[in-house]
Amino acid sequence: MHYTRMPIEIESPESLGYNTIESNLAESSVRDVQFGEVDINLNQLVIAYGDHIGKPELRQLVANGHIGLHANDVLLTVGAAGALFIIQTSLLTPSDHLIVVRPNYATNIETPKAIGCGITYIDLAFEDGYALHVEKVAAAIQPNTKLISITTPHNPTGTVLSGETLLALCHLAEKHHCYLLADETYRDLAFGTPTPLAATLSNRAISVSSVSKAYGIPGIRLGWLITKDPVLQTLFLAAKEQIHICNSVVDEEICYQYLSKKALYFPAVQYEASECFALVESWINGHRLLEWVKPSGGVVCFPRFKAEVNIDVEKFYHTLLSKYKTYVGPGHWFEQSKRSFRLGFGWETRAAFTQGLANIDLAAAECM
Ligand SMILES: Cc1ncc(COP(=O)(O)O)c(C=O)c1O
Repeated sequence: MHYTRMPIEIESPESLGYNTIESNLAESSVRDVQFGEVDINLNQLVIAYGDHIGKPELRQLVANGHIGLHANDVLLTVGAAGALFIIQTSLLTPSDHLIVVRPNYATNIETPKAIGCGITYIDLAFEDGYALHVEKVAAAIQPNTKLISITTPHNPTGTVLSGETLLALCHLAEKHHCYLLADETYRDLAFGTPTPLAATLSNRAISVSSVSKAYGIPGIRLGWLITKDPVLQTLFLAAKEQIHICNSVVDEEICYQYLSKKALYFPAVQYEASECFALVESWINGHRLLEWVKPSGGVVCFPRFKAEVNIDVEKFYHTLLSKYKTYVGPGHWFEQSKRSFRLGFGWETRAAFTQGLANIDLAAAECM
């Protein structure tokens, strides 16, 4: 493995210092929860090693409501990031080949790079509505292709694959005896009815998610992978046990109690995100300088400066942060041009979010 730090982590708001930012539009999650806001009691918890696969009752909660899914199909991990790392390092070697969509959450590209496997990128284009075409994925398959890696709802664009596309990708993986890795971390933030979990559609599909993005509790570092293939499940458990044996039982308990009562908390979170989505939509529709592909899920979008706009983007990001204390995710976090940036609409209060949008306009006007 050859590790390199990723720009998205080096320049993350938590690395920069939250106190330097007043309008944080760089986040990709809903607002973080304060412990005292939720009814969680840890008094009875014994701080022993936990079940290596993960707290059974929590795995059952994750499996609930998904056709044909059982608690044993779920392996708890340290965030979705931990799940992605386990899957990629268990399945890929330098002699294997991976197909991965770009742009993407940086880890989905960086870990395969660190492994040194062959990589074919499927580049999504603004002009094409950031659509993923299954024929392009099929054309990229090689005899040693081990993994097809997709993200839906997509980070950073917020586009969502249809159920038919997901199924077609599963069939492709089955036909070519490889696996589909579906990063579904934003699934619970779908605008409409979410597509079925990829792992319920095929034994060749592996689903990944967590409580970081939709539930505002990323600090407990709790995620999971789901596969209905018991051989794969054992392989992934072996990797987990070698890295950290089990999850933190404190994290598992907090997560379990939170998810058990999510009906109490989640509607307000969804309402706030939808209100901020309405704000960003009315801001960008007809915008003089910016254009977007309207997202269909999640809490991020990826606007860009129109081609005819002559702007100094370096100066724009600098002015936006240093003068207006407003932060967005520049395109290079996703190996894209800095004329595009990720804008998160789920994290800030409505007031700070509205101010952030106004600040983008002010900073842009000063950098033309
Ligand atoms: C698509 C995607 N997958 C995985 C992750 C990692 O999430 P977690 O905090 O659960 O490790 C992120 C975080 O930004 C993400 O955007």
